[in-house]
Amino acid sequence: MELFLDTANIDEIKEAASLGVIYGVTTNPTLIAKEGKDFKKTIIEIASIIEGPISAEVVSLDSDGMVKEAQEISSWHPNIVVKIPITWEGLKAVKRLKKLGIKTNVTLVFSPNQALLAARAGATYVSPFIGRFTDITQDGITLISDIAKIFDLHHISTKIIAASIRTPMDAVNAAKVGSDIATVPYRVLQQMVMHPLTDIGVKRFLEDWKKVTQ
Ligand code: G3P
Repeated sequence: MELFLDTANIDEIKEAASLGVIYGVTTNPTLIAKEGKDFKKTIIEIASIIEGPISAEVVSLDSDGMVKEAQEISSWHPNIVVKIPITWEGLKAVKRLKKLGIKTNVTLVFSPNQALLAARAGATYVSPFIGRFTDITQDGITLISDIAKIFDLHHISTKIIAASIRTPMDAVNAAKVGSDIATVPYRVLQQMVMHPLTDIGVKRFLEDWKKVTQ
């Protein structure tokens, strides 16, 4: 499973990129608004740091508006993937963008049917949300698992990006059920690295080393 970072914060992206484990970045209007900076400049700066796909989302609700926005956004950098919400109008936009050679990441996916429709419309990626599903006591991992089984059974090439990840266990479970990618917040990435037994072990190694070298 590949790891993407789910943020528009440049400092977080630079620090995470230094680990060598992050291949792409996903953003959404909330993450962009949180940074309070120019959308285009932010996305172009992210693309200068990260070698892989950078997802940037449209805000239009009609397919014509989505396609117009997507053509503009995708012109900013070759690695940009345009995020489109899984709506009736969104499917129309995905179909048109496929013909234009513009890659799409269909987002706000909460059912296998939505993922299947997005794939059939020509989506490059689908983003099923774990956390917001789990927030209403639905099983987010089963959503990922069902989509992965359907895509595998029918040889669908659209990639699954497990999104709305709240905990390191969400990332583990997404990997176990076959998600192609997990896009994680910076906080979760930090938690994925850490383990108390590692800290205890490092401390003990240093203490023992000092006994024989000092
Ligand atoms: O990429 C989608 C993700 O940012 C949504 O996460 O925590 O707002 O549900 P969250």
